[in-house]
Amino acid sequence: MEKTIAVLPGDGIGPEVTSAAVKVLKLIARRYNHTFKMTYGLIGGAAIDALGNPFPEETAEACQASDAVLLGAVGGPKWDDYPSGNRPENGLLAIRKHFGLFANLRPVKAVPALLGASPLKEEKAAGVDLMIVRELTGGLYFGEPKRRTHEGAVDTLSYSRQEIERIVEKAFELARVRRGKVTSVDKANVLETSRLWREVVEEKKASYPDVEVEHQLVDSCAMKLITNPAAFDVVVTENMFGDILSDEASVITGSLGMLPSASIRTDGFGLYEPVHGSGPDIAGKGIANPAAAILSAALMLRYSFGMDTEASAIEEAVQTVLEDGFRTADLAEKDERALTTDEWTERILEQL
Ligand code: NAI
Ligand code: MG
Repeated sequence: MEKTIAVLPGDGIGPEVTSAAVKVLKLIARRYNHTFKMTYGLIGGAAIDALGNPFPEETAEACQASDAVLLGAVGGPKWDDYPSGNRPENGLLAIRKHFGLFANLRPVKAVPALLGASPLKEEKAAGVDLMIVRELTGGLYFGEPKRRTHEGAVDTLSYSRQEIERIVEKAFELARVRRGKVTSVDKANVLETSRLWREVVEEKKASYPDVEVEHQLVDSCAMKLITNPAAFDVVVTENMFGDILSDEASVITGSLGMLPSASIRTDGFGLYEPVHGSGPDIAGKGIANPAAAILSAALMLRYSFGMDTEASAIEEAVQTVLEDGFRTADLAEKDERALTTDEWTERILEQL
């Protein structure tokens, strides 16, 4: 297959980890007879510096002309005092909204070789293999009215039936090719939007008789994610609950340097990026863990290109290299020699 990928390295360790992911994509293309054409664009602080805008028109056009986007990370102390509205993070919100990427997927999978790094007891973290599906373009973060006066402030939580339907369908489809279970998370004992959410899930489940459905209240779900995380398969929820639960779930498996994410819509176009930020404290040293970026590239192959075999090959290579004891600095034990970003990426390429 022939695909065009827009690569937006961004700031800090973003360029270091995306360059590792691009090497892996190039090897996959050679090995499986695909052509991946990479085009490069600016986003975040790098785009502000060059063009005065965190998501410039040129970048939007490059993404528009591509089949999927691979992003590094944005932000850093240099831009912390910039006015709100022209900060690196605005580039992320803008690109998600611009392309209508309503479904944010965050898989969290325990890596046996890294269980010691989990804040949970090893036996609790073992066997965790869940996916948080967060609604990304609606809800409290975008609802109107949204305003602030000296006396008070208002944010609005609103969802249309159609917005709920498309994210719920996505969750059911994902559950089908995973372990067949959807946990829908809401606050239906208090919120009208949650009561509509629950109603839509109940309607949709008739079309997916092979998928088991449960409803959980968000506060209870927050607790169960810590007490019994292995019980979850697909967790689907609205924007703010998903923001919080996905960060909570992300620590279960240990390192921030390991976690990929996908933001997609129904036609296959998607944005793929590590969960971690720009790592200003380690930027430029060549020691960042590229696993999250490499695993994000695997998600791109699976969800945007339908290349499941290729995606699994990358995921297995990452597992194997870790099991063989090769670690970047964030994962290495005190007396272990840590590999640089390039050295660790070489191990992955060899494995593939
Ligand atoms: P961060 O994720 O950049 O770093 C947190 C800690 O984890 C740091 O000690 C960092 O060195 C370490 N770390 C992160 N990724 C790593 C990797 N791949 N390998 C090894 N160690 C890694 O979060 P922080 O420090 O809160 O934010 C730094 C900047 O990144 C801020 O400007 C923030 O706004 C931005 N940010 C951007 C995100 C994005 O682009 N999606 C997400 C989160 C933060
Ligand atoms: Mg968040």
